[in-house]
Amino acid sequence: MNEKTLAGKVAVVTGAASGLGLGIALGLVEAGAAVALCDIDDAGLAEATEGADEPARAFAVNMDVTDEQSVTAGFREIVRHWGGVDIVVCAAGIAPAYPLVDMPVDKWRLALEINLTGYFLVARQGARVMRGRGGGSMVMISSKSGLEASKANSAYNATKAAELHLMRGWALELGPDGIRVNAVAPGNVFAGSKIWNPEYIKVCAEKKGIKPEEVIPHYVSLTALNREIKRPDVANAVCFLCSENARCITGQTLVVDSGQVMVR
Ligand SMILES: NC(=O)c1ccc[n+]([C@@H]2O[C@H](COP(=O)([O-])OP(=O)(O)OC[C@H]3O[C@@H](n4cnc5c(N)ncnc54)[C@H](O)[C@@H]3O)[C@@H](O)[C@H]2O)c1
Repeated sequence: MNEKTLAGKVAVVTGAASGLGLGIALGLVEAGAAVALCDIDDAGLAEATEGADEPARAFAVNMDVTDEQSVTAGFREIVRHWGGVDIVVCAAGIAPAYPLVDMPVDKWRLALEINLTGYFLVARQGARVMRGRGGGSMVMISSKSGLEASKANSAYNATKAAELHLMRGWALELGPDGIRVNAVAPGNVFAGSKIWNPEYIKVCAEKKGIKPEEVIPHYVSLTALNREIKRPDVANAVCFLCSENARCITGQTLVVDSGQVMVR
């Protein structure tokens, strides 16, 4: 997306030190926005902001999305730095994949904390700030697993589905304030993701009865387009939803999965 459709907008992206969050933050910078990249990984954030198209429009903010005070302080810092917030993208998430009978409760609870409480705290603060500005746009990064359950991934399935329903309720609630709330549900995005670490790929290989090196080609082959999804594909969907081109779209899920999951 080369057009500066988001020039003059201020965006907040969580989980922006890695993977999809980083790809989305860079895409928003490319689309003209000033972007606050929020994460707990300071080293990753430093690298990310330096690598942005226009480093002057990329601002690193240490924010733990599970911590109410950290979220409030982070937004305060962003408003002080950029003067306000127009766009909020929640992407900080984890995927502790275990069969039900082996799932440790601490991993289950951590997934709920990051993927649900984190989305709630960031959306709440974003709404408080954007309401005062007469509108804005939020995008919740869910997953195709929020639409169709993945095997041996209880906490991920539950939280990613819940994010979609939170999004719908927030769209209803915030519509009168001019705040649009949508979701993007990506399929598997391997490049640059720490979720797709060697251990996770090994678990997937075991689930599928294939070798670890066969995992990526296998997942790509499950898509109608037989096309690997890359981070800019997801970033483009987010930029569209945040732009004026989507001014009448709210409460919706845009699925970026090369045609893998057909249920909505
Ligand atoms: N990669 C995929 O295949 C894929 C597919 C669909 C949806 N998603 C979604 O995209 C999002 C990002 O996934 P990814 O694969 O890029 O993961 P990733 O692990 O590469 O990036 C996640 C980022 O979140 C940060 N983070 C973790 N806990 C945090 C906290 N408490 N506060 C702030 N930041 C925190 C991490 O430091 C990391 O930088 C997740 O919500 C995931 O569900 C990913």
